[in-house]
Amino acid sequence: MKNKVEELLKKKEKAKLGGGQEKIDNLHAKGKLTARERIEFLVDEKSFEEIDMFVKHRATDFGLSKQHFPGDGVVTGFAKIDGRPIALFSQDFTVFGGSLSETHAEKIVKIMDMAMKLGIPVIGLNDSGGARIQEGVVSLGGYADIFLRNTLASGVVPQISVVMGPCAGGAVYSPAITDFIFMVKNSSYMFVTGPNVVKTVTHEVVSFEDLGGAETHASKSGVAHFIYDNEVETLLNVRRLLGYLPLNFKDKPEDKKFDFENLKPELKFDEIIPDSPNKPYDMKQIINLLVDNDDFFEVHANYAENIITGFARIGGISLGIIANQPEVLAGVLDINASVKGARFVRFCDAFNIPILVLEDVPGFLPGTEQEWNGIIRHGAKLLYAFAEATVPKVTVITRKAYGGAYDVMNSKHIRGDFNFAWISAEIAVMGPKGAVEIIFKKEIANSENPEEELEKKLSEYIAKFANPYIAAERGFIDDVIEPKETKIKLIQAFRLLKTKVDTIPRKKHGNIPL
Ligand code: HXC
Repeated sequence: MKNKVEELLKKKEKAKLGGGQEKIDNLHAKGKLTARERIEFLVDEKSFEEIDMFVKHRATDFGLSKQHFPGDGVVTGFAKIDGRPIALFSQDFTVFGGSLSETHAEKIVKIMDMAMKLGIPVIGLNDSGGARIQEGVVSLGGYADIFLRNTLASGVVPQISVVMGPCAGGAVYSPAITDFIFMVKNSSYMFVTGPNVVKTVTHEVVSFEDLGGAETHASKSGVAHFIYDNEVETLLNVRRLLGYLPLNFKDKPEDKKFDFENLKPELKFDEIIPDSPNKPYDMKQIINLLVDNDDFFEVHANYAENIITGFARIGGISLGIIANQPEVLAGVLDINASVKGARFVRFCDAFNIPILVLEDVPGFLPGTEQEWNGIIRHGAKLLYAFAEATVPKVTVITRKAYGGAYDVMNSKHIRGDFNFAWISAEIAVMGPKGAVEIIFKKEIANSENPEEELEKKLSEYIAKFANPYIAAERGFIDDVIEPKETKIKLIQAFRLLKTKVDTIPRKKHGNIPL
């Protein structure tokens, strides 16, 4: 028996070395962690239970029958983060560059299938040269098996991809289907075709980093939701994200204790809105005053910054915040902001995360660039996402709510549960100047003093429409509130909404304008 224990321990020690000490040293020299070291930073101490440590590939071509590394380039298993279970895989670059073989894929598929049965999130640490070239179409099949699982698991359990090295070719589509992508600055990249192919086909000369590095995907393409300076910081922030999420679509996110009884009105809210409606202000000031412990976990912080998305707790309740940002493009809705917002709303709705909307929006962005690229269908995504969502949904209009954007940003009409307006709100079909120039065009032109007439009509319009009361008279706004009472009002609203039940009509699935 003793010999058998020794044999087991020896086998495990060998498997833990992956592709061998020399390759591990090479990784470290590049400032990268090994697949197992990454797991240690990610999960609770001593919580990782590995499976399939002894799996070997079955390939024989190109000399592979003589090259075997137990585990076959991916470490898989189950662990805990903050005491809650997760399934994970971590690709091992020291074994054939982390490339995906038939058996490597089978290991990933196995933990994904288990995660679905258990109802727990899946975290994938990606560091791979792509399909194992020596295995040909078999490895392509392996990718497709994973893509299918990613798709079937979508909306069932949260899926998080952490890209910590290369992720190229069709391999990018697994992370792309998952809910969130983390990348590490200067050491991870994602692209469908690399710089060499790009050069051959389009004659563009571009570096790996510029084509598909973390900064590029965080700011230009929107592929990456979170980027950090190094691997450890990245992994610690994956833990942070998990803290806001439920385990699966039947579960609810965890609330924390909060001392509501001693919460006082916050006077700083009253100082944020500038006197001039055309002056920008930073919506994050409002968010930071609202969220507990200044803890706002922003998603897509560097992409489409005219809309802000992120997770936080307010009064201990875990929720998703989506807010227009008057400081960037006046908070206008454009294509990128609409798509960013829509995906965030759908994620929250899929996983029972209540939604708070902070609204100050002058409308949709005009122009040929937006129209020709489809602001109609992209803007419709945000509208569709809000209308379809059945989680608790609360809106606070801080200033402007104009035109179609008023409807889109979780208005009462599309099932906003509680819609509040600050006393500074302006709710109308369009801004005063544009409106007056259209409806009083003739009066102004025919007047003896057009400028004076314009000013007069403007004052009339502002007095009549640039306020929250017309909407409140109709019941489109549930209450007009003083800014200082916002947090108190929101906590009461979200507490009341804890028992909310709403549905969508029975169907196979909707047809969101993709
Ligand atoms: C088999 C691979 C491999 C692969 C790397 N290796 N990629 N083995 N299949 N796809 C091996 C190398 O032979 C080498 O083995 C070790 O991993 C490390 O690779 P290096 O090239 O030395 O490392 P580095 O210089 O850091 O470059 C990493 C790399 C490069 C940029 C990823 O290896 C590379 O370009 N690989 C090929 C990428 C690729 O074209 N993959 C197919 C994409 S198409 P030794 O023994 O020398 O250490 C695809 C289709 C998916 O994936 C489709 C899904 C639908």
